[in-house]
Amino acid sequence: MAEAIRFFELNTGAKMPSVGLGTGQAGPRVVGAVANAIQVGYRHIDCAQLYYNEKEIGSALKKLFDDGLVNREDLWITSKLWCTDHLPEDVPKALDKTLQDLQLDYVDLYLMHWPVSMKKGSVGFKHENLTQTDIPSTWKAMEALYDSGKARAIGVSNFSSKKLGDLLEIARVPPAVNQVECHPIWQQPKLHAFCKSKGVHLSGYSPLGSPYMGFIKNEVLKNPILLTVAEKLGKTSAQVALRWGLQAGHSVLPKSTNEARIKENFGVLDWSIPEDLFAKLSEIEQFWHLFKQERLIKGTPFVHETLGDYKTIEELWDGEL
Ligand code: A2P
Repeated sequence: MAEAIRFFELNTGAKMPSVGLGTGQAGPRVVGAVANAIQVGYRHIDCAQLYYNEKEIGSALKKLFDDGLVNREDLWITSKLWCTDHLPEDVPKALDKTLQDLQLDYVDLYLMHWPVSMKKGSVGFKHENLTQTDIPSTWKAMEALYDSGKARAIGVSNFSSKKLGDLLEIARVPPAVNQVECHPIWQQPKLHAFCKSKGVHLSGYSPLGSPYMGFIKNEVLKNPILLTVAEKLGKTSAQVALRWGLQAGHSVLPKSTNEARIKENFGVLDWSIPEDLFAKLSEIEQFWHLFKQERLIKGTPFVHETLGDYKTIEELWDGEL
């Protein structure tokens, strides 16, 4: 009997559902997606102020609560602090806005979206909006949100091992989660091992390699090893990619606004990848076939020779490329 891996326990003691619906780039279609997801069993929705659809998610959730389909306490809702709100006085205001939009009293998890600060009120990704980061001060304000109970857990996103290590040195409340890109062609074993050794849960975004993300056409779901394993198990390559993530020990946050695919992506709890096939997946070559680039989301707009903190991509990721 396969181990279901329905939850991962965080360093707060909370149990986070292992499969969450990603909502980035869903736009207003997120309303139907959230309703479909809850109906097929998802209990975890991954949101962010940057996605500009928290209001729509809030109305979808309200309807689900009003219709008695699910209770707030049975859901896990994550949101993220955007880079323009890193000043300590702006951090609680940003969470209040998110809570107002989501029509909730608290989030289960609040993440610092990037280790990057941008001018307050600025819109878009122009280099001239970059400012110096002060992660310790922002984190202190995040800790106050944890103390207030409005964020039941706090964490980070897009942090390298080095940046996470530096934060752990000064944190009174250690981050519970580091949410990063993670899929079979970007497995991040070093970062994962570091997170594990420090009791920080790694949560994987773009777990399918974002197959239809416009300009970035990639081949994760067409990887021959993934396809062979999928065929042997009678599953789709998306399901194998997601189940690989769960068995590797991280939660997965697939995005979809398509009813059938939302359901398909949740069908990863009642079977498992046998050890020999799991080992094969760990051997997948770690680069993109098309562009020979290592990671999908590089954070290029956050890098500039003179503006902000990071002169190069290597500095942003501390060499974890
Ligand atoms: P769609 O919304 O039409 O389903 P990721 O979570 O890795 O960023 O990938 C998200 C993208 O993958 C979305 O464009 C989504 O499109 C597509 N997608 C989601 N689930 C599947 C699946 N099971 N098979 C193929 N593509 C999928």
